[in-house]
Amino acid sequence: MCATTVAKSTTATFKRRQDDADAFDFAGATPPKRTPRRIPAHNQQPLRPRERDAIIQSLRAGVTPRCGLPHIQVGRDGEIAAMREDIERIQDGGASIRFIIGEYGSGKSFFLQLTRAIALESDLVTLHADLAPDRRLCATQGQARNLYAELAHNMATRAKPEGNAMKSVVERFVAAVRKRADATGVSVAHLISAQLAHFSEHVGGYDFASVIHAYWEACERGNEERKNNAVRWLRGEFTHRADARNALGVRSIVDDDRMYDHLKLLGLFVHQAGYGGLLVCLDEMVNLYKLANGPARMANYEQVLRICNDCLQGSAAHIGFLMGGTPDFLFDPHKGLYSYEALHSRLAENTFARNAGVVDYTAPTLHLANLSPEDLLALLHNIRHVYAAGNASQRLLPDEALHAFLAHCALCIGQEYFRTPRNTIKEFVNLLAVLAQNPALHWSELLPQVCVSPDRESGMSDALGDDMSQRATDDSGLVSFQL
Ligand SMILES: Nc1ncnc2c1ncn2[C@@H]1O[C@H](COP(=O)(O)OP(=O)(O)OP(=O)(O)O)[C@@H](O)[C@H]1O
Ligand SMILES: [Mg+2]
Repeated sequence: MCATTVAKSTTATFKRRQDDADAFDFAGATPPKRTPRRIPAHNQQPLRPRERDAIIQSLRAGVTPRCGLPHIQVGRDGEIAAMREDIERIQDGGASIRFIIGEYGSGKSFFLQLTRAIALESDLVTLHADLAPDRRLCATQGQARNLYAELAHNMATRAKPEGNAMKSVVERFVAAVRKRADATGVSVAHLISAQLAHFSEHVGGYDFASVIHAYWEACERGNEERKNNAVRWLRGEFTHRADARNALGVRSIVDDDRMYDHLKLLGLFVHQAGYGGLLVCLDEMVNLYKLANGPARMANYEQVLRICNDCLQGSAAHIGFLMGGTPDFLFDPHKGLYSYEALHSRLAENTFARNAGVVDYTAPTLHLANLSPEDLLALLHNIRHVYAAGNASQRLLPDEALHAFLAHCALCIGQEYFRTPRNTIKEFVNLLAVLAQNPALHWSELLPQVCVSPDRESGMSDALGDDMSQRATDDSGLVSFQL
């Protein structure tokens, strides 16, 4: 049988099965109700050597570690409590959206990663990606699909926190359905159809369900290639409809227009697979603000509005969004989210909270306060602890050295040393590295040589912004070249 015939017959079979499914109320067709898991406290597990190395290397490079964050985290208690509530809401079938706003280097990426780690512990599936010139929420030349593909590539679960978890999520769905089929005597095919029947009410849902079906059939037949194709489709890796039709018998692919619809479908699907829901973390949203092409920027903000409306009005389920950006990205009246009136009204600050000098942690925008000097001291304690692999006897510096180090940084760069702590942290780790390799040296000899500079937005971002404006111009069809 040729590929197209197989494809057609699969779609037809699925349609038939879905009709059957609609006609009967199968025993156990809906997934068993989850008892909401208590969200665990995020500290203090033993420090593994791999985590220790990852933390130290990331801090030294000035980036947020991808694992072991609770070992160094300081402050942010109110914000984290708010995130835990959001996670509970997602588990209960609701939706949430938060804009994490902070200056360059104030800890936005750290906070996003920390929330992601809490979500994974709470049995959510997470997706994360940085926006970039070729990764946006709305586009016409594949940039939105690129963003989806990056998110899907980074899909993580508690068992696979490092990413690439799409296949294991689908496996978990299939395994759960198989188990129920064994228990109820209803065929797996019928159960899958019944369980995903409501997907056809959503944009792209019919093909999504067909692909899951194709995956299960490929499992039954031991057809690895088809299984891989199904996973590739779910990860948005098909770029041509014809290829998807030949490989899986579906007419659509995840393209620019459908990327958000597919995220919503993923939220529903991971719930069906037995997870609490989906958390989507989008960092470097400032890249949208940097789009020089007004219509392209507005189109992206419209997409943000759509997500905002769905999450705030309750029309999305089992999904949450975290978007990290700078104050410019939010407040700029000409190019920021506030330049779009509908978003301005939804994201406007709570004036009662402001006048009372308190923080409203239920608002969609969370402004990350700067870390305090006390926070930074606690952070140095944590880093020293991690550097010593959790072994107090191997600490390289006494407490007085930490105070002296901070005093030195304050002299060099003033308040910046704790407001945007990236460079302070880098220099501290460098100091530890030198002491670790040269036990004969004393910290007091090295301290005057520590040279810490204020953290600034890298020129790279601007360059990317320019690049993006170039591409944005492409979007409007007016191509210009610049040497
Ligand atoms: N609450 C925190 N606890 C411990 N370390 C933190 C905390 N917040 C930030 N850091 C550390 O501060 C540094 C800068 O944080 P991060 O990279 O998250 O900033 P950012 O706001 O994302 O910066 P950028 O605007 O450049 O993307 C990182 O080394 C991070 O590990
Ligand atoms: Mg960042």
